[in-house]
This record gives sequence, structure tokens and C-alpha cells, in this order.
Amino acid sequence: MATNVSPVPASSSTSEGRPLRLGLVGNGNRGVIARTAVEADAAATVVAVADPHPRAQARAVERFGADVAVHEDVTGLLEHRLDAAFVTSLDHQHADHAITLLEAGVDVFVDKPMATTVADADRMLRTARESGSRLYVGHNMRHMPVIGLMRQLIAEGRIGQVKAVWCRYFVGDGGDRFFKDWHAERSNVNSLLLQKGAHDIDVIHWFADGYTRRVSAMGSLTVYGEVADRADHSGQMVTEWLDREKNWPPLAQRGLNPVIDVEDLSMMTMQLDNGVYATYSECHYAPDYWRNYTVIGTEGRIENFGIGDDGVVRLWNRRSEFLEHGHEEFPIPTAPGGHHGADPSLLREFLAFVRTGAPTRTSVVAAREAVATAATATTSMRTDSSAIDVPPLDPALRDYFDAGQPR
Ligand SMILES: NC(=O)c1ccc[n+]([C@@H]2O[C@H](COP(=O)([O-])OP(=O)(O)OC[C@H]3O[C@@H](n4cnc5c(N)ncnc54)[C@H](O)[C@@H]3O)[C@@H](O)[C@H]2O)c1
Repeated sequence: MATNVSPVPASSSTSEGRPLRLGLVGNGNRGVIARTAVEADAAATVVAVADPHPRAQARAVERFGADVAVHEDVTGLLEHRLDAAFVTSLDHQHADHAITLLEAGVDVFVDKPMATTVADADRMLRTARESGSRLYVGHNMRHMPVIGLMRQLIAEGRIGQVKAVWCRYFVGDGGDRFFKDWHAERSNVNSLLLQKGAHDIDVIHWFADGYTRRVSAMGSLTVYGEVADRADHSGQMVTEWLDREKNWPPLAQRGLNPVIDVEDLSMMTMQLDNGVYATYSECHYAPDYWRNYTVIGTEGRIENFGIGDDGVVRLWNRRSEFLEHGHEEFPIPTAPGGHHGADPSLLREFLAFVRTGAPTRTSVVAAREAVATAATATTSMRTDSSAIDVPPLDPALRDYFDAGQPR
């Protein structure tokens, strides 16, 4: 797996020394990363934005200044001699938007999930290889201090050889974040097991140093289907309705998306190619919002409590009965910026990758494997929950991306 963790240089001008010209497709909530990118690096400018919604177009000027060009459609961006572009449109649009840019010679940052189907993910990989344009997938959790700390403890051999990884995701803001807009519809996301789970499956693969080859899952819509109060929030952003105090308990939610056909509770089991077994569970009506990982090896186990400030990772590496604080406790490092410091670090890494092809901590192959695993699990969940083989990646594509996408 391509998992280089070298520090990310701050400069992002092109190899010819001029500032990077950047574009953005989809200027909603997550479009803010384009601003974070240029705030982190003065040698890069957002010159053009594509979004069909008038509110998102007005937001482009607020975020990037009066000189930014605004277009309805991704093809408008091709007029601007871009070096790179961010794709933060709806999940099912990622593939077509990224492919349009890659084919035009623009390097692409596509946010997670890379795509909603294996076919789309593989189409993106083939296009990047054929065009020679660089493709990067924004799996920012690899840049979260808690994940880096756990990965480091594993790499140092503190728990021996990894054999099991269990992740529980308490999606405390689930009703607000994923059931009041397009996220609630299969046609946009496939499943929330894919839309959210892509993050965690990628982390599980990173911790285990392997990829899932067989998967089974169960889940259904267990709570939000009962909420009758519905509303169309098109054009709004989640920040306009998210409220942890008022919107509780889950059955008292109001203004859910008119169509809800995704699951709010899902659980999957995974068999990896290196003998590791893993589980992933997500619940969209838990009261608290965080993720908990347990990694068990041949000589101990680690587990995180919290994911940011004031959190710890605990290590148990001798026999005991219940021992609340473990045998050793490691504070989770803090870092400024979105997603516990992950976003600025991720964006610096992307800009360095565009400029020099520098190695990355994120992996495009791993992003594809996260989509493939979650999409296959979704098929299992929506049929009889049998175990299903995950479609393998073309080895030639794997080699090209693991080699760092040589131009
Ligand atoms: N890595 C992370 O931590 C993280 C966090 C949040 C969101 N995301 C990802 O970012 C993406 C966007 O999520 P969001 O929360 O910003 O959603 P959002 O609804 O706030 O924004 C999506 C934007 O895309 C625009 N859009 C719709 N059709 C378009 C088209 N044809 N061309 C261009 N733009 C179009 C919409 O008008 C909207 O402004 C999703 O894929 C999501 O998974 C990642």
C-alpha cells in the first residue's frame, strides 16, 4: 500500500514557479476546502468555480473574492488553464466531474467517497492513467492525529501483528447531516454505509495493511422512516439547520428529506487479503458523535476514547481483568484546523503532490478499495446478507497508482 508519511512542504507554486491556478466543482458545505487550501498556501489561487445553484454561486464570490469566475457546469472550468481542481459535488457526480477534468489535463482532488460504484471508481482510475493527469482522493482521516497515533503504535509493534480491527461509528448528528438533504437518497450516495463507511474502511485497511476481499452486511431504515415531517432543503447548507439541542430525540426531528431510502443502521464484517478480520458498524441516531476503533494484535490491543482534544488512546499489553485505563495511555495530539487539523494537512499534501508528485499518505488504490468494499457490503445488506467477494482491481492500475502516478 502507498502510505508514505513524509512531511508536507508548504510551497505550492508549479514546477515553473508561477502560482497554482485552482478550480472548484460543487461550492456547498465542503467547498470550503478550496479556501482552506489557498489560506494554507499563498502560492495558489482559486480562479474558477462551477455550481449550478445561485446561492452557491454567490458563495463563490464570498469565499474567493470578486475576481473568481463562476460557471454553471464543470465544462466551464476548462476555459481557465487550471493546474488542479477540487471536486466536492454530490457523491454520484464525482466520477463524471473528475473524468471531465482529468481528460482536459487538470489534476484532480476528489473528496471521499471517491465514487458510489466500483465501475465509476475504476473508470476514474483508467482515465487518470490514460491522461497522465494526477488523481488524489481526500481521505482526510489519514491526517487526523488520533488515526496517526494509532497507526504509529501499530507500526512500532506495540500490539504485535494485527489480527482484528473493530470500528463503531456513533453518527450523533446523523439525522441533521444525512437525512435532511440528498444524502438520504440511494441515487446520490448508494448507501450511507458507503458514504460514511468509506472513511472508516480506509482507516481499517490502513491499520491492517491489507484490503477486504470478502464482506457481508445487515442493516435497514429503523428510525427515520417513521418521521412524517418532510421538507426540501435544496440550495441550503447543513450549517443552516444543524442544531444539537433542538433536534433531539431522533423521532422528534422535523424537515427530513422528502425521499429517504438509505439505511440508518448498518453493520458489516470483512475478511482481508492478509488474514485480518474486521467489523464496521454505524448508527445515525446515537446521541454522541464520534468513532471508536479497537485494534487487536498478537501482543495487545489499542482503543481510542475521543477523537480530538482531551481524548486518549489506551494500550493493553498484559493479561488483566477489566482495566479501565489500560497499561499505558497516550494523549491524542492536537492540531489546528478542520477535522482536528486533518484538513490543512491534507490540502498541503495535495498541493505538494500537484506540484512535484510528492508521495502521499492518502492512497488512490485504497480509496478505490474502500468504495469496492462498501458497495459490495451494500449489495449484501440489500439481499440476503450473504458473504460476497469484493471485485479485484486491475493489477496494472494498482501498480501505476502505487508507483505514485509517474507522468
Ligand atoms: N472528507 C470529509 O471530511 C468531507 C466532509 C464533508 C463532505 N465531504 C464530501 O464533499 C462532498 C459534498 O458534500 P457537501 O456536504 O459539501 O454537500 P453540499 O450539498 O453542501 O454541497 C454540494 C454542492 O454541489 C453542488 N452541485 C450539485 N450539482 C452540481 C453540478 N452538476 N455541478 C457542480 N456542482 C453541483 C450543489 O449545488 C452544492 O452547492 C460529498 O461528496 C461529501 O462526501 C467530505
